[in-house]
Amino acid sequence: MIGEKKVLYSGMQATGTLTLGNYLGALKNWVSLSDEYECFYGVMDLHSLTLRQDPPSFRKNARSLYALYVAAGLDPEKNCIYYQSHVSAHAELGWILDCFTYMGELNRMTQFKDKSAKHADNINAGLYTYPVLMAADILLYQTDLVPVGEDQKQHLEICRDIAGRFNHIFGDVFTIPEAYISGPGARIMSLQEPERKMSKSDENPNATIFLLDDKDTVIRKCKRAVTDSETQIRYDAEKKPGVSNLIDIYSAVTGKARDAVEQEFDGQGYGAFKLAVGEAVAAELKPLQQRYRELMEDKAYLDGRIRENDDKAQYFAGKTLRKVHKKLGLTERIR
Ligand code: TRP
Repeated sequence: MIGEKKVLYSGMQATGTLTLGNYLGALKNWVSLSDEYECFYGVMDLHSLTLRQDPPSFRKNARSLYALYVAAGLDPEKNCIYYQSHVSAHAELGWILDCFTYMGELNRMTQFKDKSAKHADNINAGLYTYPVLMAADILLYQTDLVPVGEDQKQHLEICRDIAGRFNHIFGDVFTIPEAYISGPGARIMSLQEPERKMSKSDENPNATIFLLDDKDTVIRKCKRAVTDSETQIRYDAEKKPGVSNLIDIYSAVTGKARDAVEQEFDGQGYGAFKLAVGEAVAAELKPLQQRYRELMEDKAYLDGRIRENDDKAQYFAGKTLRKVHKKLGLTERIR
């Protein structure tokens, strides 16, 4: 708790450009939380180092992610949006928690297994201890709630285990975080293989809508979306994953319920529906892109918010880290 409010923590890796899936599945929902919770959102640039990055584009992507958070509607005056690498307590607590995490636990992480299979030439120790750094992110802010997708649930579980273990030895040090379930949050799938989640790193450029795609590109990708051999616009995630995904996208963007969408397009063909989806998505992204461009041009404004929020994050993280040092018996600095 900070004051009267529960603490909510989340973040995204600073690699690539955000997708419509990131936006509809996470970012858009975060916007509504800032009044009720004390929210921290990290630009998770240290986590991005588990893959080789090209330094100039990495730096650009991280700033672009910051601007996209803000452009999507997260007010940086109400939400603490900051760079993970600017708060050294993350790496420091990460190391400490490494010493309280068992290799057996890390061996079970499905994301580690998936990523090592995908990047067999670079299975580094950071990839392995990734969940421990994530635990440090969360625990530093005495977080109550973490909005995470399905793929990060296992990481939140290990975070809870580590925190519980630490508290068991040293007393009440960390708040044990819980998953924040935001109701039927949209899970957006690939436009080309609708059984798979929409991903930043998909090799097929038609599979993913990026937040900075222009209108024509968005519409083209929607038109090419894989559907099925029927003609009916009906929700059935099992039998009609492509059409169902498009219904979910349309519904998330317009706020209309699934059955209302089915009714709206009753008797119409896939072509007309795909066009409507594309137009609705482009219309949703337009103001976001406009705001994004303004932010990227207003260096002073963005730098100012980054500086303030880095300081704020540092203040809270520092408090927890000092407590941890004390409990562990690390010697205090002489002042
Ligand atoms: N691992 C998360 C992802 O890839 C990003 C992340 C890092 C995160 N630290 C976090 C998310 C802490 C929530 C809380 O999506």
